Amino acid sequence: MSRSTLILLPVVSVGILACVAAQRMLPGQLSKQAKLLQDAKTLSGSVTIQALPGAQSTATFSFGKPNLYRIENADGFVLCDGTNVYRYTKASNSYTVTPADDATLLKDVSGPATWAWTTFFAKRPYDDIATAKTGGSRTIKGHDVVEVIASWEKPEPGSGTFYIDNKTGYAFGFDLKQSDKEWLVTSDKLSIGTSGPDATTFAFTAPDGAKKVEQANDAGSGYAAVQAIFDKNCMPCHGSGRRSGGVDLSSYANLTKRIVKAGDPDSSDLYEVISGSNPEMPRNRPPLSQADQKTIYDWIKNGAKGD
Ligand code: HEC
Repeated sequence: MSRSTLILLPVVSVGILACVAAQRMLPGQLSKQAKLLQDAKTLSGSVTIQALPGAQSTATFSFGKPNLYRIENADGFVLCDGTNVYRYTKASNSYTVTPADDATLLKDVSGPATWAWTTFFAKRPYDDIATAKTGGSRTIKGHDVVEVIASWEKPEPGSGTFYIDNKTGYAFGFDLKQSDKEWLVTSDKLSIGTSGPDATTFAFTAPDGAKKVEQANDAGSGYAAVQAIFDKNCMPCHGSGRRSGGVDLSSYANLTKRIVKAGDPDSSDLYEVISGSNPEMPRNRPPLSQADQKTIYDWIKNGAKGD
């Protein structure tokens, strides 16, 4: 045995031990689910999202390896073709294009529509989970499931229950609690694919008449530019599923008079929370650029119109 092998050995075995220890803290169901989802080439489904105690909505999604996703709901869709992320908003019939990266992926796929299946993309599954334990067995919509209850501290404290389907070995649905909100999500359809992703599923085609909105301030102070700022900076916390603080920034139709006083930015909560020396929003993220703040200011000043 050469000297270098001897030196390497202890390091390798410590590495293996650390892996075993980390694995042991997870209930077996989670490790099994991780294996199934990580071996899968694609995952797609449609879900019913019950925002508790609020309204029910639906979404469809497709995931593909290594970093392809499409999540669609009544407000529009987000699509990543591996290179760019396209966010399309129906209300304004406009979309934005930004470069794809890991942080954006994680944010997009761990929202209320698809949280339990984020593991599909995770390089180190459940790294963010602080505690996980097995709960009871129950039947939901005809599926026999075992509950696995997990909690975490970052990026904001939350907890979630995976409903692991006894038949398939991965989550059939989940319950997610974050920022005083709770969603109960069940899948109406869910399937794993073992052959490569179909390129057309993840190719972006602009919907009829949709206009592209620049991320910067180039789009002026029209609402499309404001929506693009919300889409980029305020999701998933203020989507129509999550509505932190009762605020839904997913479309013009969902904005309320409580936070926008047309013509008067300085007495509009929407402007107040994003401006000043230590803006409250976007929470846990860097403040909006001066240009974006000005876009919102100008839009409110000009009457907060929908076009
Ligand atoms: C990481 C999550 C998160 C992000 C991102 C985020 N918010 Fe919030 N926001 C919250 C939470 C949680 C609340 C409610 C709790 C509170 O008021 O402290 C809230 C409350 C608000 C309110 C209501 C304040 C009031 O007067 O009641 C407004 C307006 C708001 N956010 C705007 C925004 C805007 C605009 C963005 C993006 C530029 C944004 N938020 C990004 C989590 C977030």
